[in-house]
Amino acid sequence: EFPITVRNLSEAIGRPAKSIMGYFFQDGKMVTINDELGEEDALEVAMELGVDLEIKRGRDIEAELLASLDHDDDEDTMEWRPPIITILGHVDHGKTTLVDRLRSANVAAGEAGGITQHIAAYQIEHDEQALTFVDTPGHAAFGEMRARGANVTDIIVLVIAADDGVMPQTEECISHAKNAGVPIIVALNKMDLPEVDDQKTLQQLAQHDMLPSEWGGEYEVIRTSGETGLGLDELVETIQLTAELHEYRANPDRRAVGACLEAFRDEGRGVIAWLIVQKGTLKVGDDVLCGTTYGRIRAIYDDQDNEISEAGPSRPVKVAGLNEVPTAGVHFFVMEDIEEARQVAETRLHEGRAEVLSTRGKPRTLEDILSA
Ligand code: GTP
Ligand code: MG
Repeated sequence: EFPITVRNLSEAIGRPAKSIMGYFFQDGKMVTINDELGEEDALEVAMELGVDLEIKRGRDIEAELLASLDHDDDEDTMEWRPPIITILGHVDHGKTTLVDRLRSANVAAGEAGGITQHIAAYQIEHDEQALTFVDTPGHAAFGEMRARGANVTDIIVLVIAADDGVMPQTEECISHAKNAGVPIIVALNKMDLPEVDDQKTLQQLAQHDMLPSEWGGEYEVIRTSGETGLGLDELVETIQLTAELHEYRANPDRRAVGACLEAFRDEGRGVIAWLIVQKGTLKVGDDVLCGTTYGRIRAIYDDQDNEISEAGPSRPVKVAGLNEVPTAGVHFFVMEDIEEARQVAETRLHEGRAEVLSTRGKPRTLEDILSA
């Protein structure tokens, strides 16, 4: 029923367009039959003409939500934001160890069977600049999760163990990475191992249409070791250079929009969703729509589980307050109020629909995916 033009309103309330225009004319405003009216004006004129008008909001909310994802905010609202770097690669090639080393943590050691089961995101500081890393599982069964990680990302670091070279999941990652259309940096990892043949991997990369820069191509290949720390400074510098070239920016002063990377039910805290803010600032007390779930944000935790009160662009956080566990890989939106969030969530639930991040750019609906 949007937009509310004079003509639409006239039809809706059963009063001549002339009377509507006349009302505005008395007020010193000239409107034509095709002019759009603000909601308040529409309500006022309807009341004046003796009609109790109710404008049902929300029918176009889905479009508004998509628009808030797709369109950049005004130029003068945009500020620098940390780059989001997704780590992709074959199982066991050392992704988690690399991220652990960068953040001086030890996640890899605590993982069941040494295999990453879900996406995790962390922020580190380097030269007083924040960088957000998204660690993904390399296991074959987690392809969809990798696609999700690749979706929110600005830069991809493709980890290849030098003793193993390009493996099946490496190939899959190359295709995700290329689909994402973002810069790819190769970390040729485990270079601490004796007698590794780095030339072999360079050749394989060239065969996969990823000619290394040292051979005149456009792909930076950094020799690294998560074990010894070799090459990690160079890796971070290369990431920062790439980020500088692209100038990643977002408006921090708007209702937050972002993606849900993971979600689960925590015994003590209830539903916990691992979100990454893409635009705006997420605050405790915000009313959030996340796929088919909704809720008022009760607590925000940073990547070390410290409680924080808000999170700006590119910040990965865990939040408590959603009514149910959302599907991982959907977008979240801060809504005007809890009622609006609930309505959209319930409509989506009813229609069995939630957009899932599996391609970059426009999110697809579940229907799109099922019918594809
Ligand atoms: P998934 O998450 O299961 O895909 O694995 P991953 O890529 O995160 O690998 P992870 O960091 O868990 O490391 C796998 C194994 O390789 C572990 O036993 C690590 O200790 C070992 N490893 C990781 N990085 C290096 C490295 O640079 N050198 C050597 N020698 N071993 C490494
Ligand atoms: Mg891992």
